[in-house]
Amino acid sequence: MLLNMIPINNNQFEKFRTLIYDNCGIHLNQVKQELLQGKLDKLLRKYSLESYDEYYIMLTAGPNKQYWREFVDEITVHQSSFFRENNHFEFIRSQLRMIFEKNPRITRNNEIRVWSAGCSTGEEPYTLAMVFKEWLPPDMSVKILATDISSRTLALAQGGIYSGNIKKDMDPYYLMRYFARIGENYEATAYIKDLIIFRLFNLMDPFPFQDTFDIIFCRNVMIYFDSKVQQELVQKFHAVMPAGGLLFIGHSESLLNKTHGFEYIQPTIYMKQGKQ
Ligand SMILES: C[S@@+](CC[C@H](N)C(=O)[O-])C[C@H]1O[C@@H](n2cnc3c(N)ncnc32)[C@H](O)[C@@H]1O
Repeated sequence: MLLNMIPINNNQFEKFRTLIYDNCGIHLNQVKQELLQGKLDKLLRKYSLESYDEYYIMLTAGPNKQYWREFVDEITVHQSSFFRENNHFEFIRSQLRMIFEKNPRITRNNEIRVWSAGCSTGEEPYTLAMVFKEWLPPDMSVKILATDISSRTLALAQGGIYSGNIKKDMDPYYLMRYFARIGENYEATAYIKDLIIFRLFNLMDPFPFQDTFDIIFCRNVMIYFDSKVQQELVQKFHAVMPAGGLLFIGHSESLLNKTHGFEYIQPTIYMKQGKQ
């Protein structure tokens, strides 16, 4: 019988599900059993393994970090696009004055610090780089930290090369100004690449930052976490922001029923309360 015809049993699913939750915060409900099986089958074939149990042992027992990295690359969802949920960028454009007023350290330092947490293949941080280049006063600098748990995804983000399909997601002005054409593809130019630092980072880990972030984008990431992990993460974000800092979350996410020190500005946009 072909391996991919043997369904993963409940016990095996439970073991992988716990492993994923404990290490990545990602919560898989029972409905995802088949989906996970498809992803595991691919990895089993890659390593010529015979069973899910054998793979579980290899993944958890060995010192080989490469197996773990490939597992994380496979189980995470990386869908993204340029100018996704564009009202967030429009909000920044139209509210820049309010953002500076509520968070005076931006003008004090003449610098805005932004974090794209769960940046996937880079469309989000590059969009942030473009809009800040366009809309900030010319002498103000922007520093963007872009992090993700998936190393394959992060390498793509860092490469900054995208297919011609990105034309449909952005105004031709941005494409011409910030991308170089290479054959059928487009590569982000140093003009925006140099504003971004890419780092592998698991949001479940303690935050190691020395400085705080004026703006955090964590969009379409918490949707994969359960309420407990979401709550912890929101508190961690709160701790690394100054009063007046803004948190943007995905359109299908909400801080409803969470304890947090953010003021609700509009759906999916929150500001840290208090005075600096
Ligand atoms: C659907 S993408 C969202 C990309 C982008 N923020 C957007 O909205 O277009 C979700 C990303 O979150 C990352 N992710 C999931 N769990 C994570 C964790 N524990 N720590 C860091 N990143 C995580 C995934 O690897 C994936 O790239």
